[in-house]
Amino acid sequence: MIRIGMLTSGGDCQALNAAMRGVAKTLFNGKEQVEIYGFLDGYKGLIYGKFRMLTGFDFSGILTKGGTILGSSRMPFKLMRDPDENGLNKVEAMKQNYHKLQLDCLVILGGNGTHKTANLLKEEGLNVITLPKTIDNDLWGTDMTFGFQSAVNIATDAIDNIHTTAASHGRVFIVEVMGHKVGFLTLNAGMAGGADVILIPEIPYDINKVVEAIKERHDRGSRFTILAVAEGAISKEDAKLSKKEYKKKLESYTYPSVSYEIADQIAKKSGMEVRVTVPGHTQRGGTPCPYDRVFASRLGSEAGKLILKGEYGFMVGYKNREIVKVPLEEVAGKLKMVDPNSSIVKEAKMLGISFGD
Ligand code: F6P
Repeated sequence: MIRIGMLTSGGDCQALNAAMRGVAKTLFNGKEQVEIYGFLDGYKGLIYGKFRMLTGFDFSGILTKGGTILGSSRMPFKLMRDPDENGLNKVEAMKQNYHKLQLDCLVILGGNGTHKTANLLKEEGLNVITLPKTIDNDLWGTDMTFGFQSAVNIATDAIDNIHTTAASHGRVFIVEVMGHKVGFLTLNAGMAGGADVILIPEIPYDINKVVEAIKERHDRGSRFTILAVAEGAISKEDAKLSKKEYKKKLESYTYPSVSYEIADQIAKKSGMEVRVTVPGHTQRGGTPCPYDRVFASRLGSEAGKLILKGEYGFMVGYKNREIVKVPLEEVAGKLKMVDPNSSIVKEAKMLGISFGD
């Protein structure tokens, strides 16, 4: 008999259900009897013992379903060692619930924060296998995360739809794409949508260079310009500030987000009409694209295989077109970022895309 617990933690994304289905189907198709306990709302379920037993029926018909059948929540890693409001030791509570159910392994689906806690649980002696989810594709140790390609599709659709109205009105349009720390989503959606300017956290921008790029287009006869701007895009001046100074600046910040500040600056410096569109959480919603369905199913299936072999302590990832197992300690606490000198950035620049640098 194999007993596993499953949970989805952090911001949701497409194909979480497909991945869990992949794990479950592989286990149910194995020779051993399997019990799967689904913890509700991420680590909260494991801490407070909120779970339900999952059968084959729970995994049926969920391949194409967005969100997560288990629910999710954000539980900051830095607070994991702090007692909760009632004095409960969260780490000990998770260990107790794991042992009470006599689990052989926890399957944890999540992004960066989730992996730090997963590694902590490994260090505390629990058997853990993780799967890399996030629309940001910023997880160390894997070339791809599931959710990313689906989000690229949605952000690209947003840019595509803006194109026609931008052209009709001869306006500058900013489409704000998700990603506070990392710009893979903006870079890919921006290139796929034919954005003229792409601003990402890894390449701080100079607003005068951005305005120059817009004016050059205008002088060449283009009636409109489209900017794909990451939530975490940062100006060269702000990038020079210390963490403390930047935090202070944000305290008195009056714009809803960086895109509105950029829009204001462009309007003032160029005299052009500027509009901002924020697709926001729609980028995490809806049905997973076919790539993510296949990818998440493959990762899930490989996770199931590791469990059947009793190999624990790994994230199942994707490197150089191969499914790989990466030790959790190599993943936890590291961020994968866009390399400003990578070929994709160089190619984008050769296409005439401005990064405002
Ligand atoms: O981590 C995924 C992500 O969607 C980021 O792209 C975004 O910045 C953040 O989560 C939004 O978080 P929340 O859903 O908590 O507002």
